[in-house]
Amino acid sequence: MSVLEGSVGVGDMILLEPLNEESLINNLEKRFQHKEIYTYIGNVVISVNPYQQLPIFGPEFIDKYKEYNFYELKPHIYALANEAYQSLRDHDRDQCIIITGESGSGKTEASKLVMSYVAAVCEKEEQVNSVKDQLLQSNPVLEAFGNAKTTRNNNSSRFGKYMDIEFDFKGSPLGGVITNYLLEKSRVVQHIKGERNFHIFYQLLAGADAQLLKALRLEQDGSCYSYLNREASRVDGMDDAANFRVVQNAMNIIGFSTEEVQQIFEVVAMVLKLGNVELRDDFQASGVAGSSIRDEKVVKEISDLMKLQPEVLERALCSRTMETKKEKVVTTLNKIQACYARDALAKNIYSRLFSWIVNRINENIQVSDSTKKKVMGVLDIYGFEILENNSFEQFVINYCNEKLQQVFIEMTLKEEQEEYMKEGIPWDKIEYFDNSIICKLIEHNQQGILAMLDEECLRPGMVNDSTFLAKLNQMFSKHQYYESRVTQNAQRQHDPSLGLSCFRIQHYAGKVMYNVDGFLDKNNDLLFRDLSQALWKSKHHLLQMLFPEGNPKQVSLKRPPTAGTQFKNSIATLMKNLYSKNPNYIRCIKPNEHQQRSLFSTELVGTQARYLGLIENIRVRRAGYAYRQVYSAFLERYRMLGRSTWPHWRGQAREGVEKLLEELNLGSGELAFGRTKIFIRSPKTLFYLEEKRRIRIHQLAVLIQKMYRGWRCRTNYQLMRKSQILISAWFRGNMQKKRYRKIKTSTLLIQAFVRGWKARKEYRKYFRSGAALHLSNFIYRRMVQKFLLGLRNNLPTKVTDHRWPPPPYKVFTLVNQELKTIFYHWKSKQFLDQLSPQKKEALKEKLCASELFKGKKASYPQSVPVPFRGDYVMLREKPKLQHLQTASDGPVLMVETVNKINRASGKMAPRILLLTKSHVILADPKGSKIKTVIGLERVAEVSVSSLQNGLFGLHFTEISSVGSKGDFLLVSEHVIELLTKLYRATLDKTKRQLPISVTEEFTVKFKEGNMQVKVIQSPKSQDKNKVSCKKKGRNHLEVYAQ
Ligand SMILES: Nc1ncnc2c1ncn2[C@@H]1O[C@H](COP(=O)(O)OP(=O)(O)O)[C@@H](O)[C@H]1O
Ligand SMILES: [Mg+2]
Repeated sequence: MSVLEGSVGVGDMILLEPLNEESLINNLEKRFQHKEIYTYIGNVVISVNPYQQLPIFGPEFIDKYKEYNFYELKPHIYALANEAYQSLRDHDRDQCIIITGESGSGKTEASKLVMSYVAAVCEKEEQVNSVKDQLLQSNPVLEAFGNAKTTRNNNSSRFGKYMDIEFDFKGSPLGGVITNYLLEKSRVVQHIKGERNFHIFYQLLAGADAQLLKALRLEQDGSCYSYLNREASRVDGMDDAANFRVVQNAMNIIGFSTEEVQQIFEVVAMVLKLGNVELRDDFQASGVAGSSIRDEKVVKEISDLMKLQPEVLERALCSRTMETKKEKVVTTLNKIQACYARDALAKNIYSRLFSWIVNRINENIQVSDSTKKKVMGVLDIYGFEILENNSFEQFVINYCNEKLQQVFIEMTLKEEQEEYMKEGIPWDKIEYFDNSIICKLIEHNQQGILAMLDEECLRPGMVNDSTFLAKLNQMFSKHQYYESRVTQNAQRQHDPSLGLSCFRIQHYAGKVMYNVDGFLDKNNDLLFRDLSQALWKSKHHLLQMLFPEGNPKQVSLKRPPTAGTQFKNSIATLMKNLYSKNPNYIRCIKPNEHQQRSLFSTELVGTQARYLGLIENIRVRRAGYAYRQVYSAFLERYRMLGRSTWPHWRGQAREGVEKLLEELNLGSGELAFGRTKIFIRSPKTLFYLEEKRRIRIHQLAVLIQKMYRGWRCRTNYQLMRKSQILISAWFRGNMQKKRYRKIKTSTLLIQAFVRGWKARKEYRKYFRSGAALHLSNFIYRRMVQKFLLGLRNNLPTKVTDHRWPPPPYKVFTLVNQELKTIFYHWKSKQFLDQLSPQKKEALKEKLCASELFKGKKASYPQSVPVPFRGDYVMLREKPKLQHLQTASDGPVLMVETVNKINRASGKMAPRILLLTKSHVILADPKGSKIKTVIGLERVAEVSVSSLQNGLFGLHFTEISSVGSKGDFLLVSEHVIELLTKLYRATLDKTKRQLPISVTEEFTVKFKEGNMQVKVIQSPKSQDKNKVSCKKKGRNHLEVYAQ
């Protein structure tokens, strides 16, 4: 996706309309919120620190950016690195990549991205790989010794770095040179709360094994060391121990020997332990204040590490030798001075160690042969800083940035001018702010601030920071970009914010107030010669190397150059270096102070945009023509806007563009035709073109869609038509085949019938008519015969045998039934005929009993097989009872002993009951005295229980009750026989059917009144006829029986 297309906001801010700070920041914010952290200003990349890992890095992105030109994809550091690398490889132009920005804005990360890009794109050969490894591995080592946690950045580089990567003619890396600037060495002895000392101290303590720690005489606990603020601070997400191993490994890859690594750690340990050397006031005999070591043990350990006599070190720390040409004077240092000397020593050892490491890395990665090399420089240097209290360090840092701005302006303008010249377009002078006047204010050899500072440092007599300020005030009283209280007073201005001991410089990026306190000291950066001489005497090889000036043979009384001068010189070298190369800029911006993702502080970004001079940058780039593009690319992009250039332009690209722009009728001042490029003055025109292109593309897309859809429908239709024809052909064929098959089968059927009919007709004469009837008759007869014979052989022998053979054929079912009925009638008649009249009478009785009691009374089934005896008392054999017989008229039908239930008490009394043809007689069983004689006509009804028992009630007619005692409740052992006989006798006598009701509840009428009888079933017992009664009140009687 190109910079112009589909981007959030404006991808290239040269095209920002309107151009002002607000729109610029809005554009950055909008892009930042959409995770578009990179934005261009021409070929400058603005990078806003995302504070989160974005999925836009890594090999596949590198591969993509490798394939495209700068503006063809979204803005990215890879695009810039690619452009620089290709220009280096293909056009043989040395490159430098200048990365600037505040601390924590992402400079170091950006430089690593550039390096990883370059490492990834260049050829992959064995030897090259080791060079690349060494180059890449220099990072962790430098970061361990030169980075620290600050409040703004957990991994803040506390030194400036410039790295030249050298390539051969093919573009393969050969090696490199690293230059370091101004390590913040004050951090070794002091850092504010919440920050840390350099990482290496913590890494060493956390990562070294016990053996190494012992050799270095170190405790693992960081809180033992006063240079670490006596706190074991850890940084979230940073594993010091693991990083220590990474550093050791990196040192190994770069080519440090084991002894060297050991010695480096020894020096680090010395520095750390120096912080624990405590000093105290010690007055000498002469009364002059002196100092001495409080704890000899620490000094002893350090001297052991330094391979030095403890006394030598002690003397060096506590005294100072003043040496002139003629004499040597030894003075003692008081406690404050001695502490100062100790800290100065620690700082010096550490910063010299750092420089030594850089040099050592350089020795390994440097290219030895002197053939011409292509160079790409990467500069990662601290950005412009405005702190609350700005001192010497900020002064030189800001000076450095001022110089870089100068490079930027000059190079950009130069480039612009060169381009115009190359393209043959007249160059109008561009108005811009030239900051060389500020650079001069600082760096002028005689009248610059740095020169004054040096002069003040060297001048004999009373010199201090305020004399320096006075000198500045005097020198620059009229300078436009310099202010202080004094110059203001002179101009009758009053600004309370400007401190007394301060001066203010109006840098290109804003006004900064510097406090002169400590300027002289920091510029002097003196290490007492006693210390360097003492350390040179050390037998520790590395330590001795760090202090060459301690060698008495090299003693010169000439002062070493001041820090300011050193820095100025190194910046001058750097500038020379940069000017000789093609610059590429990455300007880093920090979106917030809290290292937080997605948080964009407009105010903070505004300040940085001003520091970095982004608006200036855009103005310079836009001063002439905002947009330029080579003819062919321009034509390719916009040719659809012209009638003659669309769809094909056969001629030269330039002519095509001219024709196209003529047709579009743009203002003539807007355009300039260069040799290879078209120049467009204002972004508005470009946007106009873009908008037209967008609309046109839309139209073209619709056209293409239309054509495509038409084509698709047509081909689809044709395909369908073809298929339809094929399908219908098959279908018709199939249908005809089916029809043919049907006709064929029908024909065959008809033929078969006709043939059959013909054959039958032919053969009919040969058949005897009526044969079938004969046959069937014969068969039927045979069947009947078989049925009847089968029946004869299986007939039942007894009338009670109901097994009847089933018919052999279904047709005989009805006949069989009929035959069975006839057979049983005949068999029954035969059976009846051979019975005697008595037997017949007995059976009639049994039949009557069955009609009366079958299915009604429980004792009936048991009575069936038992023959009715009639006489149960042996009437004939008992003469006593004979007269009873005489009392009755006619034969006795039945006689037995029954129990009568007493109506009053419910008790039972035995009675002999006689039944004759006309009477029921009850007699006393002992005396055989007749108690009651009842004519059968008086018996109205009988009630009997349905259970096993023999209870029954004899109910008499109303009239007959006069004079009698009422109904009888009797219990008989042969109640079925008795009642059957009573029923038959009554029927014979009175031609009346005696009602016999089978029930468990009935009423008996007595003289005294009615009584309700209820039969209740008692549990089963041995004696089935046992009956017991219980009176319930006057009118109720409960009978318990089975
Ligand atoms: N491109 C990036 N992607 C993700 N995080 C980043 C990126 N650039 C910077 N950071 C984060 O910001 C922190 C500070 O970056 P750094 O390069 O050390 O800043 P500087 O060198 O400018 O002080 C890094 O430790 C990292 O967490
Ligand atoms: Mg950094």
